[in-house]
Amino acid sequence: MKALVLAGGKGTRLRPLTHTSAKQLVPIANKPILYYGLEAIRDAGIRSVGIIVGDTAREVREAVGDGSRFGLEVTYIPQEEPLGLAHCVLIAREFLGDEPFVMYLGDNFLVDGIADLVDAFRGADHDAQILLTKVAEPRFYGVAELGPDGEIVALEEKPVHPRSDLAIVGVYTFSPAIHEAVRAIRPSARGELEITDAIRWLVDHGFRVHSHLVSGYWKDTGRLQDMLECNEIVLQTIEHDVRGTVDGFSEISGRVVIAPGALVENSVIRGPVVLGANTKISGSCIGPYTSIGEGCVLEGAEVEYSIILGESSITGVRGLTNSLIGRNVEVTRSMDSPHVNQLMVGDHSKIQVRA
Ligand code: DAU
Repeated sequence: MKALVLAGGKGTRLRPLTHTSAKQLVPIANKPILYYGLEAIRDAGIRSVGIIVGDTAREVREAVGDGSRFGLEVTYIPQEEPLGLAHCVLIAREFLGDEPFVMYLGDNFLVDGIADLVDAFRGADHDAQILLTKVAEPRFYGVAELGPDGEIVALEEKPVHPRSDLAIVGVYTFSPAIHEAVRAIRPSARGELEITDAIRWLVDHGFRVHSHLVSGYWKDTGRLQDMLECNEIVLQTIEHDVRGTVDGFSEISGRVVIAPGALVENSVIRGPVVLGANTKISGSCIGPYTSIGEGCVLEGAEVEYSIILGESSITGVRGLTNSLIGRNVEVTRSMDSPHVNQLMVGDHSKIQVRA
């Protein structure tokens, strides 16, 4: 069995971060989201992985390499334009050959991994297996309607009027029958070849499509709030591991990871928190549920429930919460006047200041 991981696309919902970097590489607890998927694939006993890459190909290649450090053999498959999930299957035809495969959307996160799902597919005689989970806002997802015996009655991509609250999770398993389906369908109204349409084609043409309800935690990390929630879930599982330096004036509570070279002085750290290598925290109050990347400097800062990427600095700013801060960002206190906010912010940024 092979795996096809989708790490192309545009990532418009996480702008401005995704102007300069791949959305699949935004870190959760200081580890790129894509790595969790690759590890889950490895843990399911799969070795051969094709990764679809688009505009951010260079970065994804740099981050994943040949896959050997994950115990995988990676083949990169360039996609010229993000023409849809089924288009990815179309262009991966040669790599996939006639083997069954698991398709994994690079920005999806499943806390329980995919080993059970892959085992279930290996032992069954299905042409496709999809995972479904109840969501509050199904119109943002592919949606399935099930009949009384659990059979799939309808499948629709991002319906305006969803017929159920069962969203299609971004991990699918397919037999080679899917290749016929992706060749048969036409682009949707948004101009993409939808995998949801290809699966519906399989259902309509009498192929065996099985659906399975997921009970564990799943997130499509495409939006800020989902990303922060995922960060919280992963931080709940970290093991206390302090390798950096903590001075005698600091107070640490709960589980924290402090990477080598990091320094905490005169600060309060409320776990769960992870601090990247060579990050310096001084006179600050950090956490809970906060991930700070490598090489950051926080002085007189107060940050909770947030993700801060590497090489950023926060000086004299309190009350930062539910925030996602990119790389090389500077957040400082306005010195000229205590009553003004002075911003230099990239395109498509979102800022909420105290009224
Ligand atoms: O996350 C689950 C949802 O994923 C499903 O419920 C939907 O049925 C499915 O269509 C998909 O919807 P999204 O709108 O979230 O897909 P998105 O455009 O975010 O793409 C998912 C991943 O695939 C992402 O890592 C980018 C990558 N991708 C996407 C497209 C359209 C590619 O590599 N190439 C592409 O052409």
